[in-house]
Amino acid sequence: MLAIIGGTGLAALEGLTLEDSIVMETPYGVPSANIEKGELNGSPVFFLARHGKAHSLTPHSVNYRANIWALQSLGVTRIIGVNAVGGINASMGPEVIVIPDQIVDYTWGRQSSFSEEGRVIHADFTYPYTEELRQQLFAAANKVSVNVCDSGVYGVTQGPRLETAAEIDRLEKDGCDIVGMTAMPEAILARELNIQYANVSLVVNMAAGRSEGLITMDDIQRVLDAGMGQVRVLLSAVA
Ligand code: HPA
Repeated sequence: MLAIIGGTGLAALEGLTLEDSIVMETPYGVPSANIEKGELNGSPVFFLARHGKAHSLTPHSVNYRANIWALQSLGVTRIIGVNAVGGINASMGPEVIVIPDQIVDYTWGRQSSFSEEGRVIHADFTYPYTEELRQQLFAAANKVSVNVCDSGVYGVTQGPRLETAAEIDRLEKDGCDIVGMTAMPEAILARELNIQYANVSLVVNMAAGRSEGLITMDDIQRVLDAGMGQVRVLLSAVA
């Protein structure tokens, strides 16, 4: 069973025929929103708005553990996380869709494991995204002629502020191609529960110091409006 976790610009999934809106409780608290169950392109899927339906949760206050736990308890075996990101690599400019293959995690203070005393998990995370699911995304992109970049290193920052230009220089030296705030701990929590996980990132701005002028929310919104349509087409084809 597939679940899609939508981020900024994807708080609802157009094309999803809604069958149920499920209120969940987990040992870790409540998920970001009700989990919507429906059909996308004739296939059953679950959908969860990462920041809540009204986009009220900041990246560091999302209850990632409750989200992943709730999805697994509904029988989810594959998750596609959708994120809006900044581009660091010059070839990953606004409106480019990236399906990253690696992560550098700069977040702190987030509940980032299901490990607890007496039950320590040291999950292998060499390849943070499930290759099989990435390949399904490439095949879907091909089928519906959506251009995607098939690799990239996602640097995950704490937010909610954007980065300084010097921080982006550092991320670039570290090998990051794109920067966002929500890829972690989502990916590792899915791994700990043996759920397949891949990410679809839409570049909505050039990262700090990588373009003339400052980053404005108006510019980001314009790119979100233009680019999320393609992301939706891609998601429909993978369902
Ligand atoms: N930095 C971090 N997160 C982001 C950005 C950015 O430039 N754009 C969208 N999410």
